Amino acid sequence: MPLTLLDINSSPLGEASISRHLTHEFVEGWKLANPDGKVVQRDLTSTVLPPVSAAWIGAAYTPEASRTPEQNETLALSDSLIAELFAADEYVLGVPMHNFSIPSVLKLWIDEICRVNKTFSYATGTPVGLLTGKKATILIASGGIYDKGTVMASYNFVEPYLRTVFGFLGVTDVTVLSAGGAAALNYGKIDRQTFLQPHVDSIRAQFQAA
Ligand SMILES: Cc1cc2nc3c(=O)[nH]c(=O)nc-3n(C[C@H](O)[C@H](O)[C@H](O)COP(=O)(O)O)c2cc1C
Repeated sequence: MPLTLLDINSSPLGEASISRHLTHEFVEGWKLANPDGKVVQRDLTSTVLPPVSAAWIGAAYTPEASRTPEQNETLALSDSLIAELFAADEYVLGVPMHNFSIPSVLKLWIDEICRVNKTFSYATGTPVGLLTGKKATILIASGGIYDKGTVMASYNFVEPYLRTVFGFLGVTDVTVLSAGGAAALNYGKIDRQTFLQPHVDSIRAQFQAA
């Protein structure tokens, strides 16, 4: 069966974005490794993602068979984003660090896809993720450097948060590549190509190792 890759981007910076450059590189490598594969794009900066409302919560916690047509409509976006996740075998996420955490559009998307009895369940008393058998690669770009052992490591709420959320949903096969130190580009201390090259090499190595 040909595989499907879901390519999720959240940087508002378009062509100038580091994380988008890296997801593009990943997609190109993936396509070479999966010539029959399908790539689905989900650009969170052009998806209308409303914040979770009382109506949304009420609908999500109403048993499916008892929902009103209006409640089904309230959950329609969430249903389609969740269907996209189930339909894909692999995910790649481009994530810029914004204020030590993830961009707000990515949080809005997470709030849509975390749904009781759809992507997680407490039916047995302990949480069980329902999105199983998936693989995720998370490509993080940040101005500073937050690698383990650095003075800023405890400020990194991007990688631990995303690992927690995906793990909660059942996605435990997660690879994270961090492109830290992008601020040096703004100060003209390094050119874009030189900055990107080691990260591009790491992404290419993922496919060579596979
Ligand atoms: C609104 C905003 C907030 C940011 N907050 C941080 C931050 O907390 N820590 C950091 O190291 N870099 C921060 N940066 C720098 C970005 O993480 C960096 O420019 C990165 O390359 C963004 O990814 P992108 O190029 O894919 O958009 C911030 C940038 C913006 C625009």
